[in-house]
Amino acid sequence: MPKPIITSQFNGPQQTLTITPPDGGVRLRGRVQIPGDKSISHRSLMLGALAEGTTTIEGLLLGEDPRSTAACFRAMGAEISKLNTEQVTVQGIGLGNLQEPTGVLNAGNSGTTLRLMLGILASHQNRYFTVTGDDSLRSRPMGRVINPLKEMGAEIWGREGNTLAPLAVQGRSLNPMTYRSPIASAQVKSCLLLAGLMTEGETKVIEPALSRDHSERMLQAFGATVKVDPDEISAAVMGPAKLTGQRVIVPGDISSAAFWLVAGAIAPDSDLVVENVGINPTRTGVLEVLRDMGADLTLENERDAAGEPVADIRVRTSQLQGCEISGAVIPRSIDEIPILAVAAACAKGKTVIRDAAELRVKESDRLAVMASELSGMGASITEHPDGLEVVGGSLLQGSSTDSYTDHRIAMSLAIAALVAKGPTEIHRAEAAAISYPNFVPTLETLCR
Ligand code: S3P
Repeated sequence: MPKPIITSQFNGPQQTLTITPPDGGVRLRGRVQIPGDKSISHRSLMLGALAEGTTTIEGLLLGEDPRSTAACFRAMGAEISKLNTEQVTVQGIGLGNLQEPTGVLNAGNSGTTLRLMLGILASHQNRYFTVTGDDSLRSRPMGRVINPLKEMGAEIWGREGNTLAPLAVQGRSLNPMTYRSPIASAQVKSCLLLAGLMTEGETKVIEPALSRDHSERMLQAFGATVKVDPDEISAAVMGPAKLTGQRVIVPGDISSAAFWLVAGAIAPDSDLVVENVGINPTRTGVLEVLRDMGADLTLENERDAAGEPVADIRVRTSQLQGCEISGAVIPRSIDEIPILAVAAACAKGKTVIRDAAELRVKESDRLAVMASELSGMGASITEHPDGLEVVGGSLLQGSSTDSYTDHRIAMSLAIAALVAKGPTEIHRAEAAAISYPNFVPTLETLCR
């Protein structure tokens, strides 16, 4: 079977990836290991730094985002071993003991680093912190965490009425509260639970729909008292807590697996097994949606890895059908909507994505960018304020596209390129390293 021609051109740090599939398309086969879960990686570094004793982390994502988290916590006194092996060690310094950093903390491109860290900084008494991020992060809304933190008594300042980074934080003792979040956001929930760790009493967050629950699980594993009420859709932490270093095993990231699951479903004659994928039920919306679309997915070897469920997932080519993606499945598939839009462009009939306005404030405006880039490849796609309408089934055409420096857009476009006619250029493809440093070499080995 002929392989696609994949070339890279660099202009300084910027990479243009060109993918030219052979006539007749590519086929993907084999078994693939994916990088560690990004959300769990951030949390393991943060809780490790706040705990007493040593935390060992196996399978940590060695991408740019966790590197930003590690750099911030090192600057505040945590000893974190080099992130260049699959086993990372964190010497915790104990809750309340973060040192005042002498420089500006830089969260890079990572919303999770900045938002979760704000809860920790705001509750660190008598310390002053300044925090910033890259161009994308400095344009992302921080009011969603700053406003509730201020209700707890936090002192935070920033641009545009305290809503945008760079931010300044004067840590102090906070008051507990019950916060009813208007959005289902694990970053908002986790920020407040982390602020609650050092706050006397119960800090509780009620969500409109359940977002990923990795913080609740890991806080419990580290020894905090966490109460979860599925009927109310709430999570609460009792402070002050004491955290003890743990052994954390990070499962593979289902958000990274999603690229191969869609590729295996849409590329002809494919049969792939994606190994060791985290299948926490708050993250498996992508599997439900793909099954709804008629994808042939099988879960094999289901098991538990230190408090998180994992499985190997087999995918085989099938004819996908359009479907509706809306409501409670959206927070459970929030990061997979760009690659699901690619699946929709290859499916027969119409796919309607609704209730997904949150995508406009991710690393890029993912609704606008997927609409423009897939339209450029010939897809029939209409943008709505809170979603997309995709009429699939016509062959995509190779074209010149841009990631807008968004990792998930870069990889979604690379998968679209595999089933397009002619070459597709993906500008600023280096963004993939945020969550998937080996994406391109892995793509090359799976095409056979
Ligand atoms: C994340 C939560 C989600 C997700 C992000 C990671 C987390 O963001 O999109 O990639 O680790 O808590 P929101 O909480 O803003 O939806």
